[in-house]
Amino acid sequence: MSPALPEGERVPDGGPLAGLAAGGGAVLPPFGVYLHVPFCRVRCGYCDFNTYTAGELGGGADQAGYAATAVAEIRLAATALTTAELPARPAATVFVGGGTPTLLPATDLLAMLGAVRAEWGLAPGAEVTTEANPDTVDEASLEQLAAGGITRLSLGMQSAVPHVLATLDRTHTPANVGRAVAAARAVGLDVSLDLIYGTPGESVADWRRSLEAALDLAPDHVSAYALGIEEGTRMGAQVRRGELPPTDPDDQAEKYEIADSALASAGLPWYEISNWARPGHQSRHNLGYWRGADWWGIGPGAHSHVRGTRFWNVKHPRAHAALVRAGRLPAAGREVLNPEERAFERLMLGVRLAEGVPVRGRARDLLPGLITRGLVEAAPAEHGRVVLTRHGRLLADAVTHELAG
Ligand SMILES: C[S@@+](CC[C@H](N)C(=O)[O-])C[C@H]1O[C@@H](n2cnc3c(N)ncnc32)[C@H](O)[C@@H]1O
Ligand code: SF4
Repeated sequence: MSPALPEGERVPDGGPLAGLAAGGGAVLPPFGVYLHVPFCRVRCGYCDFNTYTAGELGGGADQAGYAATAVAEIRLAATALTTAELPARPAATVFVGGGTPTLLPATDLLAMLGAVRAEWGLAPGAEVTTEANPDTVDEASLEQLAAGGITRLSLGMQSAVPHVLATLDRTHTPANVGRAVAAARAVGLDVSLDLIYGTPGESVADWRRSLEAALDLAPDHVSAYALGIEEGTRMGAQVRRGELPPTDPDDQAEKYEIADSALASAGLPWYEISNWARPGHQSRHNLGYWRGADWWGIGPGAHSHVRGTRFWNVKHPRAHAALVRAGRLPAAGREVLNPEERAFERLMLGVRLAEGVPVRGRARDLLPGLITRGLVEAAPAEHGRVVLTRHGRLLADAVTHELAG
């Protein structure tokens, strides 16, 4: 989710990359670009992403001017990488996320993608995803996006059950999802569906129905998240006041196991705790996050990671636009990870992946005990790799902390 920004250290006058070692190692990680679009037509009660409805934004940060601001920021970012003498390389992946990117006209999204192409280039076969709400796309808009270089559509389906969609404040109907998927297929896009389980009032039968409806659409990729009740959201307040029951961890665990077996049986094995895909259709962009690759995040509140340094942008679109207009990168803070922090991060993220993560020393000695408790797979552990079992995936954070000591 997208909570408040971390504390971190002040960004030096030279920018978020000031003081990083110049040059590059022999093998560079892939480079990805995240483009944040902070607008939604309606804010869903459960959502704490950095996004705003038209009524919440005053002058200086309107939707019409957003693409130009993002393009200017991409140019500033490219210059900063060159100035820091960090090896430039084409983007292997681009992810346009939100908010609701498809609230902007296709020409705006393509202008942003065009700036990435002009400044960094796109690697051959680059994966270019845009998120979308099912009621914000049609065949004409998707055709334009596909012709302009978008290769993948990630649709927020959430549920196929009307009363669950209503509790989630969603504006789309189940029929919208089918139409959007058909339109995406017609123009040759890869399709991913986002689902949410464990919404108050959702029965196990409701969840099975949503999974079946999603699988009937033959997606290439599915993300399924346990509903999180976040502080500061409308749903958080409803739960605090007793108007909605809190989520139930046992119910969510049962639904996770149902999802994992339904998706795997349909030919979409898990590759990350909350993500399943047909072979060859994993999200390469998100894999970059979990494998510790480099990426640059553009837009209000966007996070970046370049060779062990993390930095993040100011959160509000108005502050963001004002800094970019003044010719400055809108970074609000940064964190330079030391080797121990980098190792912990690699463990914490890598343990989420079906490919697992290597461990050594004391952590490796703990593996037999974790296997006995049914948390870690035995075969990869013989080679010092931690791969979680289905049960272990429900306890991934606890396993990480145990391994980290
Ligand atoms: C930033 S949204 C973008 C997609 C698009 N705006 C939409 O909602 O259709 C990405 C995904 O995050 C998930 N999400 C957002 N808030 C969540 C929460 N509180 N708990 C679980 N999943 C959440 C939803 O599945 C959503 O599709
Ligand atoms: S449409 Fe998506 S990003 Fe917007 S408020 Fe709803 S879940 Fe959040």
